[in-house]
Amino acid sequence: MSCRAIDMGQYKAIDPCYSFCMRIILSLFLLVIASSLSRADDIAAGKKLVEANCSRCHAIGMESTSPLAKAPPFRDVVTRYPPESLAEALVEGIVTGHNEMPEFVFEAGQAAEIIAYLDSLVPK
Ligand code: HEC
Repeated sequence: MSCRAIDMGQYKAIDPCYSFCMRIILSLFLLVIASSLSRADDIAAGKKLVEANCSRCHAIGMESTSPLAKAPPFRDVVTRYPPESLAEALVEGIVTGHNEMPEFVFEAGQAAEIIAYLDSLVPK
């Protein structure tokens, strides 16, 4: 099956292979758009979660300083280890070697959102 227009009298019918290819390309394209949109949603949701749960100690933005001096700003944390490596800790409960930081346990979906947000802080 070749990918070119077939001449059918005065009508130009599109080769079925061509339209099949186009359909695949179009759906891949839509998939990419959909996943980048949902990623933007994740980042926004993750930001809300860290605002609510972490920002009273950690600086969560690109410039702010941590309200609690000992708590490292998230933009520094993400340069020390990749945000994905926190996934397990977020779900199992973050327990660092100190008792100032409360133990958090997030659902997998929330953890993914927090990671998406932290990932957005990683200098590219
Ligand atoms: C009550 C204050 C407080 C809150 C709230 C808090 N943290 Fe912390 N966090 C700290 C402190 C203090 C440290 C530094 C611990 C140390 O180095 O001993 C820390 C360390 C960390 C570290 C480890 C950094 C490293 O380099 O080892 C991560 C990751 C972290 N916090 C994530 C979070 C996340 C995610 C949240 C919100 C869900 C959060 N923290 C909420 C106080 C807090």
